[in-house]
Amino acid sequence: MRDPWNDSELIERFRAQARTALPRAPLNSALCASIAQDRSLSSLLGHAPPNQQMPVLLLAAIHFLLLDEPQHPLAAWYPNLTIEHRAPDDPALAETLAAFVHERSPAVLELLATRSVQTNEVGRCALFVPIFDEIQRTVGPLSHIDIGASAGLTTLISHYSYRYDDGPLLGTSDLVIDCTTRGTRTAPVALPTIRAARGLDATPIAAADPTEARWLTACCWPDQADRFERLTNALEIAQTHPPDVRSGDAVDDLDTMVELTDDDDAHPVITTSWVLNYLEVERQEAFVAAVDRVGRERDVTWVFAESPAQTPALDHAEDLASEHTTALTSTSWRNGQRHVQHFGTAHPHGYWIQWR
Ligand SMILES: C[S@@+](CC[C@H](N)C(=O)[O-])C[C@H]1O[C@@H](n2cnc3c(N)ncnc32)[C@H](O)[C@@H]1O
Repeated sequence: MRDPWNDSELIERFRAQARTALPRAPLNSALCASIAQDRSLSSLLGHAPPNQQMPVLLLAAIHFLLLDEPQHPLAAWYPNLTIEHRAPDDPALAETLAAFVHERSPAVLELLATRSVQTNEVGRCALFVPIFDEIQRTVGPLSHIDIGASAGLTTLISHYSYRYDDGPLLGTSDLVIDCTTRGTRTAPVALPTIRAARGLDATPIAAADPTEARWLTACCWPDQADRFERLTNALEIAQTHPPDVRSGDAVDDLDTMVELTDDDDAHPVITTSWVLNYLEVERQEAFVAAVDRVGRERDVTWVFAESPAQTPALDHAEDLASEHTTALTSTSWRNGQRHVQHFGTAHPHGYWIQWR
């Protein structure tokens, strides 16, 4: 077992995170650089379970506590909390950060010991809308089953609005997800009809629980203020439209999730987005087999947004095999026939789609 106070490896992790985050998340980088220089801070991470000792967990714990005290001087550095924020390389950051953490160390330790980094990326809904639109044209209304749904925010597709390139706004929600596209596919002109939407997750997050919701937002990097705002708005929508997310395993409980759609009078469409990379390759294979088993019995479609490099068991386009990208593919079963369609690649958070 790791000695929590022999933390040179932890320091190295903070240094490494400071380097990799620098180009796109300067505050995240500066916080990690400060922590790497202060053993009293870096050693805190040793209190997390060994498989959770990632710098972003400590950053999320600090962010979680700061969200409750947005007037604290430390908030002046957070772009999501202060519009005219202080520069990440402002030398006062180190001292302000250390004081904030030390004054709250029992709460920080509690969070490190009990929490894990969790995400739910609402922008990925923009990847599914055009594909749902195409599926719907042949099978009619859909019943959405999102596997690995986290807080279920990606089951609320119909509750957001979308704009593809300079096209019309689809939907009436104030939460607008903008997505740029490249390639020849035409953007949808209306939202797909989704009669029902359900999610399944190994550890669902209760979006309606304010503490859970705050932890989810705390895991969003403060440098990405637009993502943070989108997530906060989606969580607000989830208060009035609570997502239906059940607890269970992607492979073992897939059949049950599909059976739940029996009374929806709609075509079941399964989605996974950045989920199957959490499964061992054998379990990825088992998931593919589970979908195929369902498909041999009834018409069903599975749409995935997954990384080929991390999900080798999936049917990826040959030219994408082992690529570190987000591949968009569907497997459809119609009258016992299996058909795979590669749609293209996308930004992992849904900002763009490159159609094939
Ligand atoms: C990175 S999150 C992605 C969440 C959501 N799909 C999205 O795109 O925002 C991965 C989710 O997969 C869930 N997960 C991992 N392994 C799972 C399994 N075997 N069965 C069900 N859910 C699983 C995790 O709990 C986590 O909520």
